Amino acid sequence: MKSIQSNIKKAKKFLDNNHCIAVPTETVYGLAGNAYSDISVKKIFTLKKRPLNNPLIVHYYNLTRLKQDCSFNQNFIKLYKKFSPGPITYILKLKKNSKISKLVTNKNKVLAVRFPKHTLLRNLLKNLDYPLAAPSANKFSSLSSVQASDVEEEFGSKIKYILNGQKSKIGVESTILDLTKKPKILRFGGLDVSIIKKVLKKRILININLKNKIAPGQFPLHYSPGIPLRINVIKPKKNEAFVLIKKRKVFSKKYYYLTKNKNLNDAAKNLYSVLRKIKKDGFKKIAIEKIPNIGMGKTINDRIKRASKF
Ligand code: TXA
Ligand code: MG
Repeated sequence: MKSIQSNIKKAKKFLDNNHCIAVPTETVYGLAGNAYSDISVKKIFTLKKRPLNNPLIVHYYNLTRLKQDCSFNQNFIKLYKKFSPGPITYILKLKKNSKISKLVTNKNKVLAVRFPKHTLLRNLLKNLDYPLAAPSANKFSSLSSVQASDVEEEFGSKIKYILNGQKSKIGVESTILDLTKKPKILRFGGLDVSIIKKVLKKRILININLKNKIAPGQFPLHYSPGIPLRINVIKPKKNEAFVLIKKRKVFSKKYYYLTKNKNLNDAAKNLYSVLRKIKKDGFKKIAIEKIPNIGMGKTINDRIKRASKF
């Protein structure tokens, strides 16, 4: 308990001094900085090698704190009550007098907002006087990090501090929902769209188009392990690692399981670490068997489809 508090204190000190640090969330690790500070936000973009026109998600402790920066609407309140804190990001209108650094939004008048559920991060957020801008803690277009060692692999000594919160429980990024007009999904993620639909009780548009202007996936290659990846594979080629979701009768060194019983939540949780492991084990190519396009399967398929653009 004592060490938790001292780690949070340490994290706060770095952040108060305009540094960026890695923080755990229930989806994936984030590369966090003070969202009100141009200096901090600039550091995030530089460290991540991220183009400045790709806006960041800002993480808040609760609704009261968000009130200073964004205006709300009915759809948002309904969803917030049901799903936040949790793996959903809302796009909302920025207030004129918001203190959010203009670099976060690329000067746009809308902001991506999330309330993370991870207790350690919530504890940190509660103790800060500002919200945290945080993209996933990985280099531009590569795999997101789901544990501290992944962050080290991505950034090495360039990162000042990693707040270690163990392995992320969900393992894929948040679902992004634009609420500035008719509700529209911009990214499949950790919260199943069909569940959101049930709460909103209305149609939800889906626009996860690769050509979308400021939306996720603006850049075709994303979530890539850095080696070629094929999807919907029935039979792998000789030199390919084979990623599976159902237990095979035979053993093979090239088989890597996301889950052995088709549990798609487990599969999502293990996706990025399995892909990292395959590369570390020396394989130069990856094949993945067909993943059912339901529930979290939709999110997995979205990620591996983008990764297959390598
Ligand atoms: O689970 C998550 O969402 C993680 C954790 C750390 O919270 N964060 C994350 O951030 O995945 P990032 O930056 O890797 O992905 C956020 C995506 C980007 O593709 C960005 O284009 C999009 O959100 N985005 C941010 N602001 C936006 C906005 N105002 N309108 C549309 N898309 C936006
Ligand atoms: Mg990312």
